[in-house]
This record gives sequence, structure tokens and C-alpha cells, in this order.
Amino acid sequence: MRSRIFYFSGTGNSLAIARELNNSLNDKACIIPLSIYRNEESVQINADVVGFAFPVHFMNVPDLVKSFIKKLIFKTNPYIFAIATCNGTPGISLSELNKCINKKGQSLSSVFLINMPGNALVTPHNLEVERLNTYKAKVTEISAKINNRSIIKIEGKDNLKTRIESSICELLGKHLYLNPKNVSYTYQCVGCGICENVCPLNNIKIINKRPHWKKDCSSCLACFHWCPKKAVRGGKMLNKRGQYHHPEISIEDMDLKIKF
Ligand SMILES: Cc1cc2nc3c(=O)[nH]c(=O)nc-3n(C[C@H](O)[C@H](O)[C@H](O)COP(=O)(O)O)c2cc1C
Repeated sequence: MRSRIFYFSGTGNSLAIARELNNSLNDKACIIPLSIYRNEESVQINADVVGFAFPVHFMNVPDLVKSFIKKLIFKTNPYIFAIATCNGTPGISLSELNKCINKKGQSLSSVFLINMPGNALVTPHNLEVERLNTYKAKVTEISAKINNRSIIKIEGKDNLKTRIESSICELLGKHLYLNPKNVSYTYQCVGCGICENVCPLNNIKIINKRPHWKKDCSSCLACFHWCPKKAVRGGKMLNKRGQYHHPEISIEDMDLKIKF
């Protein structure tokens, strides 16, 4: 049985969930960061079980996940599941993902949402602790469903209100809140290159020991959250949120090539 879990993760929530899930799957999967295919024109999928784990961005599927799915060429008709991690407002993320998969002649067999600490906005401390204490039990329940190949469709239909909210959230979020133009660094930057290495789109270059952001940002916030000197700044709201990463995910897990 060939199983693959493709993940995208800025601060480790989705990666931690992909790993935790794999511990209790009967057929162990290869867990693969989907950003490694960013320069490929197409990706052939020859598997019996295919999973996607990713964060909700702006009440939608991150563009990086959408563009990865566009590249997929399915050689089989696998059982496909998706786990979206979010801070409580998933918006149209799962139905949009399903549309992308449908365009590939497939459909999502099961979909799951897990609330995790938010990495873009402040999550109240008690909620953050509660989510970190309870997500493993939720993942165990999900793994049982995947092991049984249960069919779990998206609940309800996206109504017009959710669609409008998602569009506004995306428009404002991308252009005002998380515009790469707002990203900067302070004098605390030592040019260690961690931001360059955690960037899934290779959008940051260290030149003369200082980071330079190009235009191809995935909004994952990895550069902000993983900076060991807290030198990356990203606008008022993000600075107020402060740094976060999943407690069981380390820089090494983010597959960095640290150049000290
Ligand atoms: C750019 C951006 C936009 C986000 N938008 C939403 C959102 O619309 N709804 C929500 O519930 N969480 C949102 N979040 C929070 C993340 O979905 C959540 O913290 C997720 O678990 C992070 O996963 P990761 O650590 O794997 O990147 C957003 C996070 C980022 C960075």
C-alpha cells in the first residue's frame, strides 16, 4: 500500500499533525513538504492513499497548495483526505480544495479541520493551551476514520456570506496585513540565513548578511516566527501576536540548511 501525505506548514502545526497522524495510520505514509515541487511543471502521483495537511490562509486554501494540486497527475484513483489546520475560521478552504482536486478528475474522500494556535493573530493563551493539549486525541479519531477509508464530505454548503467574507479577508489580508512590502528587519538581525532556509518559496535571499524579500511570498510567516533574534517585523498586528511555533517542531524539522 503506497501512502503519501503532502504538507505545507509555516510554523509546524500542520507538520506536527501530519506526523502524529502517521503514527496511528495502518499504512505508514511518506510525509513530503509540497514546496519541494515548486519548480516542477508536473508531479505524478502513484499512490493508494494521498493526504494533504495545510494551514487555512485568509479563510481559503493557501495559493502554494492550489498551485501544487494543479501540477498533479494522478496515475491511480486513491483515497484522498485533507486536514486543514486553522484558528477557528476555515471559511471556504475545504470546498476550494475539493474544487482543485475535482479539476484533476478526483474528489476528496474525507476532510477534517483542526483548530490550532493561530500564527497570524493573537489566540487567547488558555485556548492555545487547550488546543495543544487536545489535538492529538482528535488526530487519533481522524486516523481511525482514514484507516477505515471512511467517506466524510464537507459539511453544509458555503453560503454567500462565507464566500463574501472569505474574499474580503483575502483581499485585505494579502494587500494590507501581510503584504511582503511591510516586512522588515531590525538591527538585531545577524544575517544567520534561517529566514532564507525556512521560506518555502525561496523568496528570501541573504545579501551582504542581510535578508531581502522578493515578490513571491506564500504568507506563511515562517521568516517572522523562526527568526532566532526576533528581528523580522511584519506590521502592528503580527508584531502584537509575537513569535510562535508548534512546541514539538524544531528548526531542523523545517528542513533547514543553517549557514552560521
Ligand atoms: C497568512 C495567514 C492567514 C491566516 N488566515 C486564517 C484564517 O482565515 N482563518 C483561520 O482560522 N486561521 C488563519 N490563519 C491561522 C493558521 O491557519 C493556523 O495558525 C495554522 O494552524 C498554521 O499552521 P502552520 O503552523 O502549519 O503554518 C492564518 C495564518 C496565516 C499565516
